[in-house]
Amino acid sequence: MRDFLKRLPKAELHLHIEGSLEPELMFTLAERNGVALPYASVEEARAAYDFTDLQSFLDLYYRGMSVLRTAEDFHDLAMDYFRRAHAEGVVHVELHFDPQAHLIRGVELETVMEGLGLARRQAERELGMSTALIMAFLRDRPAEEAMSVLERAAPYWELLDAVGLDSAERGHPPLKFRDVFQRARLLGIPRVAHAGEEGPPEYIREALDLLEVCRIDHGVRCLEDPDLVARLRDEGVVLTVCPLSNVRLKVVERIEEHPLPRLLDAGLRLTINSDDPAYFGGGVLDNFLACEQAFGWSEEVFIELAGTAIEAAFMSRERRLALH
Ligand code: ADE
Ligand code: ZN
Repeated sequence: MRDFLKRLPKAELHLHIEGSLEPELMFTLAERNGVALPYASVEEARAAYDFTDLQSFLDLYYRGMSVLRTAEDFHDLAMDYFRRAHAEGVVHVELHFDPQAHLIRGVELETVMEGLGLARRQAERELGMSTALIMAFLRDRPAEEAMSVLERAAPYWELLDAVGLDSAERGHPPLKFRDVFQRARLLGIPRVAHAGEEGPPEYIREALDLLEVCRIDHGVRCLEDPDLVARLRDEGVVLTVCPLSNVRLKVVERIEEHPLPRLLDAGLRLTINSDDPAYFGGGVLDNFLACEQAFGWSEEVFIELAGTAIEAAFMSRERRLALH
């Protein structure tokens, strides 16, 4: 089964590029840039990745990315991930990035875009991989700041496949970002949002109704609201589910209790993703394998999940046809 899952062409729709920063590269970049880290070694960093909830992870995630300073750093970060993903049979990656987390440290949007752009072109050339770019807004910061980032990104609007919404969910409903997402809609930029990871089903409804998103990131808490599940099924809304992330952030106690089988039985369109692979114990293939072990899914189930990801990806018609 491992060989089959590895060979299966996989598209990843939910990946935070800053969450792909492995401790080894974190230490290399810390030295290169003279940034102090709160860990004495790679092992100590890994041992600290023991989370109680989303916020306890975000604290280390924002701390970790402080080593990213130059365009070269962002290039190295993304290429490091693209190479690992390629080795796992991932053929297409959609990367979220968090410009505000860099701007507030004095790292310009131009620096981030230059580095990520270089890596994306290199991945296409050297690995035959396609990628898409999702500029995410931090929901625990003011909506006005998100709006100003969207305007500041004007030179890059054409390069953005979508805008997204991430960071601490509780207490920060999609409603807060209605105007920002409306502006993105008027600019012709598609929209996605994290909703129903730690937040209630109501946030999923708001993301659909107020932000007019085309996909929901996570969405697992929809099961608490049967009418919402029916709506997601009827409208064919795709959820980008991240099972190992949900275990590590205690959204579920154990992978065996993960709602994926129930979501599948409910007829929802699902994809399997890694979220923050450096922090949660593995990439897309590891997430597929964890599901195989926990749920005993057949090859057909994985073919369906991988097919849904390719259907729901931001990719050209030609690329989709080539991968299907
Ligand atoms: N940023 C990075 N990973 C995240 C997650 N799992 N949820 C919300 N924001 C994030
Ligand atoms: Zn995420």
